[in-house]
Amino acid sequence: MTCTGLMKQEEEKLREKKIGVDGMHKSGNLMATPLDEGQLFSMLLKLMNANNTMEIGVYTGYSLRSTALALPPDGKEDNKGAFNFIFVDADKDNYLNYHKRVIDLVKIRGLIGYDKTLWNGSVVASADAPMKDYIKNYRGHVIELNKYPAQDSRIDICQLPVGDGITLCRRII
Ligand SMILES: C[S@@+](CC[C@H](N)C(=O)[O-])C[C@H]1O[C@@H](n2cnc3c(N)ncnc32)[C@H](O)[C@@H]1O
Repeated sequence: MTCTGLMKQEEEKLREKKIGVDGMHKSGNLMATPLDEGQLFSMLLKLMNANNTMEIGVYTGYSLRSTALALPPDGKEDNKGAFNFIFVDADKDNYLNYHKRVIDLVKIRGLIGYDKTLWNGSVVASADAPMKDYIKNYRGHVIELNKYPAQDSRIDICQLPVGDGITLCRRII
């Protein structure tokens, strides 16, 4: 989990990251966030004047166990309502657990983004359709996450077919 104080980054660093990610996509690596999704987030965060964000799931091998799942039931008070944007792109079988934690950490009018919620299109395929094992193994968890926000009255939701699907949840209360 990585927390950033300010989203502003030097142009050069951004360019390096984009070149690196582009290279990974050309080599068929689907783990990294694609450029269109990165640009969407960049635009959204600028529009929101975001200055405090959190990311859960970082592809560089960084595996700090997220504080969200480690939080005790009464939570860590100083991070409550602190983040403009929280992006979750980690273990899909824990997405609902993340949602239950991060909803209290994001500011009211802030955004939570859940990545890969179309899960290679498998969420609308029949269960017996041919699909790779890793897609099949996590498909049920992604479907579960897709259903949950619709009945969560604390958020507005919007699912976009960008990358492998992003579900944006705007906290309203
Ligand atoms: C799809 S990749 C994230 C890609 C990321 N959006 C990027 O562009 O760098 C998923 C990442 O989540 C990490 N991850 C999986 N389970 C995690 C957990 N419980 N806590 C933190 N990170 C986790 C994996 O190590 C992997 O790097």
